[in-house]
Amino acid sequence: MFKRTLVTSALPYANGPVHIGHLAGVYIPADIYSRYLRLKGQEVLFVGGSDEHGVPVTIRARKEGITTQEVVDRYHTLIRDSFKEFGISFDVYSRTTSAIHHQFASDYFRKLYDEGKFIEQTTEQFFDPETQEFLTDRNIKGECPRCHAQGAYGDQCEKCGATLSPDELINPYNTVNGNPLTKKATSHWYLPLDQYQSWLENWILENHKEWRPNVYGQCKSWLDGGLKPRAVTRDLDWGIPVPVEGADGKVLYVWFDAPIGYISNTKELCDAQPDKYGKWETWWKDPETRLIHFIGKDNIVFHCIVFPSMLKADGSYILPDNVPSNEFLNLEGDKISTSRNWAVWLNEYLVDFPGKQDVLRYVLTANAPETKDNDFTWADFQARNNNELVAIYGNFVNRALVLTNKYFGGKVPTCHGLNEYDEATIAEFKDVQKNLEDLLDNFRFRDAQKEAMNLARIGNKYLADTEPWKLAKTDMERTATILNLALQIAANLSIAFEPFLPFSSAKLREMLHMPEVNWEHLGSTNLLEDGHELGQVSLLFEKMEDEVIQKQLDRLARIKAENEAKAKEEELKNWKPAEVKSDTNIDEFDKTDIRVATVLECTNVKKSERLLQFKLDDGIGGRTILSGIAQSYPDPSVLVGKQVLFIANFPPRKMMGIESQGMILSAVNADGKLVVTTVSAPVQNGAQVG
Ligand code: MF3
Ligand code: ZN
Repeated sequence: MFKRTLVTSALPYANGPVHIGHLAGVYIPADIYSRYLRLKGQEVLFVGGSDEHGVPVTIRARKEGITTQEVVDRYHTLIRDSFKEFGISFDVYSRTTSAIHHQFASDYFRKLYDEGKFIEQTTEQFFDPETQEFLTDRNIKGECPRCHAQGAYGDQCEKCGATLSPDELINPYNTVNGNPLTKKATSHWYLPLDQYQSWLENWILENHKEWRPNVYGQCKSWLDGGLKPRAVTRDLDWGIPVPVEGADGKVLYVWFDAPIGYISNTKELCDAQPDKYGKWETWWKDPETRLIHFIGKDNIVFHCIVFPSMLKADGSYILPDNVPSNEFLNLEGDKISTSRNWAVWLNEYLVDFPGKQDVLRYVLTANAPETKDNDFTWADFQARNNNELVAIYGNFVNRALVLTNKYFGGKVPTCHGLNEYDEATIAEFKDVQKNLEDLLDNFRFRDAQKEAMNLARIGNKYLADTEPWKLAKTDMERTATILNLALQIAANLSIAFEPFLPFSSAKLREMLHMPEVNWEHLGSTNLLEDGHELGQVSLLFEKMEDEVIQKQLDRLARIKAENEAKAKEEELKNWKPAEVKSDTNIDEFDKTDIRVATVLECTNVKKSERLLQFKLDDGIGGRTILSGIAQSYPDPSVLVGKQVLFIANFPPRKMMGIESQGMILSAVNADGKLVVTTVSAPVQNGAQVG
């Protein structure tokens, strides 16, 4: 049996603020779990920190024109503070640029190196002859081999979504300076994962069948595909220097050092407060410690295959007992994206919704992407606040307390004997502790929170059915009994919701003058004694008005329009007339064949948020053009019959399986909305503009 639990949550990259996707996917579940175990009186350590190495932070630094250290300092602080504000109850939140971490990760590498656990391999990598540096996938751009868009990244084309390797790019160049690239041999150290294959198969596929299907499935497909050696070093100047002679200019790969950050952060805490936390080795090397990694799905391979192999290679560490990984949270139907600013940032939420951390915690857990990707919408946020938190939980607690104040001077009234209905109500929640434990022990936080809310529903229904405010006129004893039970349920709620909504639970306990929370008391009807004096009543939750929500929707609409305008701009920038070589020095506009056409049909492209499909009468047999302006035209049929301007010699290209033969011209309005350009009087279709 386990004596203690070590909870880790993925170390977020310190290259930007954290958003609702991070919170929903990783930090709220890890926090609920840690709080729950602490409430049960178990020994828990909840470890977090910022991931400050890797290429993303260096790219951000270049973009913002500051040093990499400044980037990580800025975002580490911002992220740490956001987590704190949201009540994420880390025992330690440190960073991978700390001296302790550098030393620890360096020693970790060196031990494996000395024991011959790595293999060395030389490969050809892209190299910038001018700056004398090797380039990572994300720092290489070029023409996409599939859709021929310019500016595809070394690992992915953002136009057509293809996964690429930098070798496939046509005319690869350095994103920073545009320099063309050559290839150069470089040697690196690899962890030979192939040697861990059969051990991993046995450990995961045989012995961890209880892992979530999404996690188990991903592991299985990696293992079925056959593991290959993975490089654990990189040619970069940002990171932890490889502690081997002659390895100048090489650093540990970020995915090698970051997970070691879980260990070094534990060490930092334990070394500073040994009396309170004991030895770090107890948390990482004692088989009676249970290790749980909370992560998002893009981290599965690293936490289930690579890091365990690193731990196994060392040989003195325990292995994760479970890796509850969530799927992704989308925002209003679109993938959350830091670079496109498509997110609800935690630091901004705190400004727009001060004191409402629990509302977001509640909604993100109610909608947690535990088994599949899920969508966050502001309409749902408002509805859950108004119809659940306010109308059920808040309303019940408020009525119980206000009525007690009114009829019993704010003191818990005496129970004068339960009737059948009271007994039935109690029976409904007597198992709440066991039900919650069954769900929480299995990382089913969504259902667990539902169970807590169900308790509020039971209380709310009890008051609605018994109507003590009416009875108070005729039967004070019965009124006392009802309010006593209602207050006991309210006290239960403060315990049941403690892992989920810690701020509201604390507030509720203040109202109840209830100093202690004891998980074992859950389900009891003797939490508050007769005559116990209650505290001041205040509102647990407040109704969210439409204007507040509209403000958020307006913000997103603005961002969407800006992104579309940017995409359009990029498209025009990269556009080259079909038959014209770009080395001519004639103004390209002259080569642009702009013509007039009448819109015959205009419809949304299935499964695309962005694209409209135009059927045009262009005077020469008709054509189809796709245009990314759907967000600006909620009802595309308004364009039917209009005469529009389009570029006729734009090379045809396929999007969403449809060939687009040209480009419709639009202008960008001040609010970012795109407006299709048209003619001021009817013109014959096919007429040229110029
Ligand atoms: N920074 C990584 C990400 O955001 C997660 C690192 S988790 C750790 O995807 F284990 F490496 F720390
Ligand atoms: Zn492409």
